[in-house]
Amino acid sequence: MSKKLFIETLGCAMNSRDSEHMIAELREKEGYETVDDFTQADLILINTCSVREKPVHKLFSELGTFNKKKKSSAKIGVCGCTASHLGKEIIEKAPYVNFVLGARNVSKISEILHKNKAVEIDINYDDSEFAFKDFRSSPFKAFINISMGCDKSCTFCIVPKTRGEEVSIPDSIIIAEAQRVVDNGVKEIFLLGQNVNNYGRRFTGEHEKVNFTELLRRLSDIDGLQRIRFTSPHPFHMDDEFIEEFSRNPKICKSMHMPLQSGSTKILKDMKRGYSKEWFLNRVEKLRSMCPDATISTDIIVAFPGESDDDFLETVDVMKRVKFDQIFSFKYSSRPETEAQHFTNVVDSDVASQRLTYLQSLNNEIIDEKHSKLLGNIYRIYFEDLHRDGHIAGRSDNNIVVKVKGSEELLGEYRDVKITAIGRTILTGEIIA
Ligand code: 5AD
Ligand code: SF4
Repeated sequence: MSKKLFIETLGCAMNSRDSEHMIAELREKEGYETVDDFTQADLILINTCSVREKPVHKLFSELGTFNKKKKSSAKIGVCGCTASHLGKEIIEKAPYVNFVLGARNVSKISEILHKNKAVEIDINYDDSEFAFKDFRSSPFKAFINISMGCDKSCTFCIVPKTRGEEVSIPDSIIIAEAQRVVDNGVKEIFLLGQNVNNYGRRFTGEHEKVNFTELLRRLSDIDGLQRIRFTSPHPFHMDDEFIEEFSRNPKICKSMHMPLQSGSTKILKDMKRGYSKEWFLNRVEKLRSMCPDATISTDIIVAFPGESDDDFLETVDVMKRVKFDQIFSFKYSSRPETEAQHFTNVVDSDVASQRLTYLQSLNNEIIDEKHSKLLGNIYRIYFEDLHRDGHIAGRSDNNIVVKVKGSEELLGEYRDVKITAIGRTILTGEIIA
């Protein structure tokens, strides 16, 4: 009988791919199969995120539940970004945890499993050329890592301390992986990295210096590959060459994530983001003029230390001018090992809540107005998500999510869909071709 693995994944798409890599290694090398119920599992993994404080608190209560209800012989491993930054503290606080594996040490999963109370959290460890076994949770869309770590020093962000320095994966490895998934029937790939458009700055071995724009060109030469998505690009690295390639290459999906963080140039400076409000707006203008159909999403942090009402209004101003298609907005959360944790001009938490609420309601207004104009439009939808209620959902090239009545024979298929009803996060349509 095979051993059973339960894995919970928190955080970003990089973590989702790390979980796939761990599942692949454990299946092939250790004979595990995944289960949805942790009480049945022989190994429980939690792949953590530490970008904000709340999930870190939740980790320990969750570990307590796992420990109480698991099979008595089951092992528990804590992986991911919180593993990197808390390390052995996790085992000190929760002594029943069997091992701790950092976000930069994913390839060691099948070794660490056999070492009781081991902690592997070296952020300089380099598995950028490691040949992982293969596992993907979706047969329709493939995540592909293009770099590890992050070289920026945004003063709010813990990630450089959990995922280490940025190292690019050689383009030959990325292209071979993309070719392999396309040969297996995948039509859409999703490139992942903390700063994808800084790709090529540093490789471990001697490799040709290929930048992100060139990588996109090379990937789009793969026959049978229909769509390329990526996350996250950094506004600082959005040069003209990149925006032009994005706009003109038909395989690149026309949805751009542009993490603004703040609309105030002063706050951007304190955050060490490397760009100003004007630069950001200029890049949006360039993108919109070259590619009017592109949708733009963003990340915004409110109440960063020192954010005055006027600074916040600068963010509101950018929101009103750009009219983002989707925002991910957060209250600033002080993180250990970051520069900003020492900033003393903390914003009152009620003010922070009010700003967040205001931003989100403004965003809802913007989205409602935008969506109301989409009625009757026709989009080419790639179906990938079967709902239980007789609907199936998919995305347009510019990331509009649409559901239609239909069943699994549409999975992995493209259809032209006319929008018949509007919602805030998902639109409804009918297939016309
Ligand atoms: N507090 C709040 N939000 C944060 N993010 C990163 N660090 C913090 C923090 N300390 C947000 C940023 C980033 C997204 C992934 O999480 O907006 O783009
Ligand atoms: Fe992803 Fe950042 Fe969370 Fe790590 S801390 S899982 S890199 S979002």
